[in-house]
Amino acid sequence: MRLFLALPLPDGPRRDLAALCHGVPGARWARPENLHLTLRFLGETDRHQAADLDGLLADIRAPAFEMTIRGVGAFTSKGRMRALWAGVAPEGALMHLQAKLERACMRAGFSPDGRKFSPHITLARFKDAREHVAGGFLEHHGNLALPPFAVDGFTLFESHMGHGGSHYVPLRVYPLIDVTGGALGEDYGDDWDDETLEDEAF
Ligand code: 2AM
Repeated sequence: MRLFLALPLPDGPRRDLAALCHGVPGARWARPENLHLTLRFLGETDRHQAADLDGLLADIRAPAFEMTIRGVGAFTSKGRMRALWAGVAPEGALMHLQAKLERACMRAGFSPDGRKFSPHITLARFKDAREHVAGGFLEHHGNLALPPFAVDGFTLFESHMGHGGSHYVPLRVYPLIDVTGGALGEDYGDDWDDETLEDEAF
């Protein structure tokens, strides 16, 4: 199973970000339903290791928080455009959660993630495009500022790669602790998809 831990987006910010996703030559835009913030990429994982990790994740106690999406940026290398993303404020509770997940992954025997966590939501990927193709996009959306919204859990996803792109299946949602008495995320209202997630519990 190819797994990753992420924060999916509620409908409001998902729609707002999907509305930006056009007008850059060569961009392979993320499908709106796939937009997420990756907390930890796990890669190919066998069922035993997934079960170990599941137990550790279920024991995590971390506070719920508000997520703020601000600005856009690009990952480039060697003069080529690799990805366009929307930025996420590196808020204390988010960084704290990610550090806890990293520790749980280490305890479950995953190799350390060598890259420094830099919270972002990938909007588009590129196969072969020059660095400057997104100049207009970056300029136009540089001041992006979406209303903050509540994050009250994180999700273990399985990624299936197909011809039409990746398909992400939520396997389990791990709740965060509400320390505010439910006052988070009022700008977008109660905007989450009410879809029941299957708990495959390994
Ligand atoms: P990204 O948003 O930074 O591109 C699901 O595949 C998610 O896991 C992707 O959104 C991607 O995050 C991340 N991911 C995919 N392959 C990865 C890899 N080899 N190393 C680190 N993260 C990866």
